[in-house]
Formats: sequence, structure tokens, C-alpha cells
Amino acid sequence: MESLTLKPFNGGLAGEIGIPGDKSISHRSVMFGAISHGVTTVTNFLPGDDCLSTISCFRKLGVIIEENGQNLRIFGKGFEGLTESAEFLDVGNSGTTIRLLMGILAGRPFYSVLHGDESIAKRPMIRVTDPLKTMGASIDGRKEGGFTPLGIRGGNLNPIHYKLPVASAQVKSALLLAALQAKGESVIVEPAETRDHTERMIQQFGGNIQRENRMIKIKGGQTLKASDVHVPGDISSAAFFLTAGAVADGSELTLKNVGLNPTRSGILDVMEDMGATLEVITEKEASREPVGDLIIRSSRLRGTVIEGDIIPRLIDEIPIIALLATQAEGKTVIKDAAELKVKETNRIDTVVGELRKLGARIEATEDGMIVYGKTQLTGGRVSSHGDHRIGMMLAIASLICKDEVYLENHQAISVSYPQFFEHLNSLKR
Ligand code: S3P
Repeated sequence: MESLTLKPFNGGLAGEIGIPGDKSISHRSVMFGAISHGVTTVTNFLPGDDCLSTISCFRKLGVIIEENGQNLRIFGKGFEGLTESAEFLDVGNSGTTIRLLMGILAGRPFYSVLHGDESIAKRPMIRVTDPLKTMGASIDGRKEGGFTPLGIRGGNLNPIHYKLPVASAQVKSALLLAALQAKGESVIVEPAETRDHTERMIQQFGGNIQRENRMIKIKGGQTLKASDVHVPGDISSAAFFLTAGAVADGSELTLKNVGLNPTRSGILDVMEDMGATLEVITEKEASREPVGDLIIRSSRLRGTVIEGDIIPRLIDEIPIIALLATQAEGKTVIKDAAELKVKETNRIDTVVGELRKLGARIEATEDGMIVYGKTQLTGGRVSSHGDHRIGMMLAIASLICKDEVYLENHQAISVSYPQFFEHLNSLKR
């Protein structure tokens, strides 16, 4: 396979970039546009491969979506306006597309088949299919509905009272989308707080949802109305540049328009705890989501312990936090993060395996990893393993390696950040 050669840089990064739209919110903007009544416009949409998979699935379900780069117009006809697709619904690499879509289709009285790529075929779906079956949907798939391809015939849903066995925003969101179509009130309890974009968007689209601590209540039969959505920048994408700025000597970077939803901002707490020179310069709201700019300067970092309820608030940032930890003095321990094993790749194995190839001192544990710093990274041949966040983490690592890095399968990065290398190169002085 052709690899990308990343030359040693060993300099500082400087300048300003606008962080592209949030992936989680972009998916949801298409879904809510489709299931509400009227025309929804979306600005700063993320045209990454994952979100394009969501658009393509909804088009197959009969929704008209006009797409112009980062701007969308979605002609919603409500849940009832969705129609049976003669073709399979291909979710590509996207766990959010398949799991949330299952929640919507669970209430639709027609048949759909969902499938995706090799990575999706390995990811557990039972966490969504089981509770949706309890609500009354008929679902089958490999290993008793546990893996793709999945066939679903929905309709006539009962409400559910459910305590989530894992802290997962995808599962919570699938159940909320099904509950909106059920006869009566559903109650969902989370073991730890996870990203709440779905709850915020239900309100943005005129729906009613209540939350008390970790318990969420939602009534079925609500009609949602179209709304305009401005998608904030993705803090999970910003995380790569926050780390780059902190570890590359002589850097000063400004990251504009970053979503600062507290259910997503765990990385800011960790960086502060590690001693990073980080500033949040403005805060405003866009479509019920807090947004601000971040300034990061090269920093002297120290090791830390990351565990417990903060894990869902930074789950997607753990690969890049592991790199950050290689540049911190002392030991960094990451625990309670077994969910990493069922992401786009087994991220405990891929992070530890690939960073070791670059000379990092890092070891895997049952539910996380331990990193010893500070280490001068070397260089070598590494792979994204088809996982966008592993690809970007390795590209950022190459900035501080003393030898060349050869990155295989860098194309995966377009899943969430098509302009990644353009932005990175624009910051090199
Ligand atoms: C997401 C939820 C998280 C996250 C994923 C996006 C979402 O997954 O890792 O990248 O948009 O709801 P889980 O719900 O499986 O934790």
C-alpha cells in the first residue's frame, strides 16, 4: 500500500485555523432535518465521509437534501414521510449513522437493510438492537442481530424504561429517536453523562424532553418542526491541533469556532491538569451549543490520571491524549476506557502498537493504557489501520519525530477531517 512520507519538522506551528463542523452534530442535523416538518438549513456542515454516508442513507429513504459543501437544505416530511428503500442503506465507516438510524427506522412500518465497511461489521450492534426489539421493532442480523448486515422492520413501538448498560451517546440517541415514535413516555438512565447533542437538538426542533441528573424522560408522538442549524467546530478535530501546539516547541495557535459543550470538553480539563498553556478566549451560543476560540502555546507537561466519569467526555480524544502523554514528564494512566476496544479500531491496541513503533514508552491495560514520558520519538512505518483518529494522531506525532514517518492508509482521515493536511501545512512556519 502506498504510504505518505512525513518529514521531520521539529519547528513551531503558528497561526489561526477555523475548525471544521462537528461530526456528531452534522449527522444529527441531517437526521432531525429529515424527521421534522419543513425546510431545515444547515451551515458549517462537515462534508466528511461519515456525514456524507448519513446524507446518502436519508436520500434513499426519500428525503430531498440539497448539498453545497458546508451548506445543506433538507426538505423534511416528518417520520411518516420516510419511505422504504429498494437499495441497501450503506453507512460506510459510521457508527453514529447506523446506530441512530436504527432508532429512527425502529418506528417505521417498512423493511430496511443496513450495512457498512469491514470496521462496521466488527462493531457491536446488540447494544442498540436489543432495546429496540424490546420496544417492538423486528430486527435480525448476523449473530442474532448483533452485527451487520442488519434487517429491520419497524412500527408500533411501546415506550421503554431502560438503564443503559454502557455509557454511549449513540445508544441513548437511538432510543430517544425511537421513543419519539412510541405510544407513551420513555425513561432512559445513563451510567455516566454522555454527549447531549440529541437532547439539545430535540429542543431546537421544538420537541419536549426532560432531564434530571442521569435520567431522561421523553414522550412519544411529538411533531418536530424544521429549524436552522449552525454547526460549531468539532472539539475532537481541534484536539489534534491543541496537542500539536502544546508539544511542538515555539508554537502559538488559535483555533476558531470550537464547540465547547461540557459533555465533550474533557480534553480541556485534562490539558489544564497536565499544565498546558491553554486559553478559551470567547464564548457564545450557536444552535443551543456553546462555542469559543482556543489559544494554545507550547507547554511543559506533566503526567496525570484519567479515569471515571470524565472518560465519555473525551472518549474520542484518547488516541491524541496518549501522544500528548509521551511528551509529559512522568506517568499518565488512562483507566475505565474499555469502550476504546469497540471504536473504529480497537484503539487500545492500535494506539499502543503504532506509538511504540515511533519509540514511545506505552503499555496496554485491560481498560486503557499507561504512558511514560518524556520520550524523544524516533520515526518509522506506521498505519492508521483505516481509523481516522489514529491517522491524524500519527501525523501530529511526525511533527516531533527525529526521523521520517511513513503513514499507511492516510486516506481514512477524510472520515472526519478532509482538510486536515491543508490546515496542518498552513500552520508550519
Ligand atoms: C458519538 C458517540 C460516541 C463517539 C462517536 C460519536 C455520537 O460513541 O465515540 O465518535 O455522535 O453520538 P459511543 O456512543 O459508542 O460512545
